[in-house]
Amino acid sequence: MDYQHLITAAVKALEHTYSPYSKFRVGAALLLKDGTIVLGANIENISFGATNCAERSAIFSALSQGYKASDFVALAVTGDTEEPIAPCCICRQVLVEFFKPTTPIILHTTKTNKQKVVTLGDLAPYSFSSFE
Ligand code: THU
Repeated sequence: MDYQHLITAAVKALEHTYSPYSKFRVGAALLLKDGTIVLGANIENISFGATNCAERSAIFSALSQGYKASDFVALAVTGDTEEPIAPCCICRQVLVEFFKPTTPIILHTTKTNKQKVVTLGDLAPYSFSSFE
């Protein structure tokens, strides 16, 4: 599958970040079953722990608009890094909550335009996902 459209949306989300502290911009784009793309940007806070990553912004925004995990098709994430940027481990745990292990995650960097397609299973094997 060609994810160029989704990557372009993630790059667009970079315009919406609030990152005055790290000055590091991250954009995300979540593709939904009906073709809708929900953008996410990192939103920082002076109390650093209150910062929300781009990936979680996209997911929480989609859920807040009434979409369900069953609507989530793929997620692209981008930043100005040497290698395609990968979600932090807090975001991976949130992805585990709402994505299937087979869900494609598209990692991208604006620096070289390099992309890498992985699955959530690749990013978060042996994850915490059950009380059983
Ligand atoms: N950040 C993300 O938005 N996503 C990630 O997966 C990694 C980190 C943000 C959080 C913070 O605003 C900045 O990047 C520096 O850590």
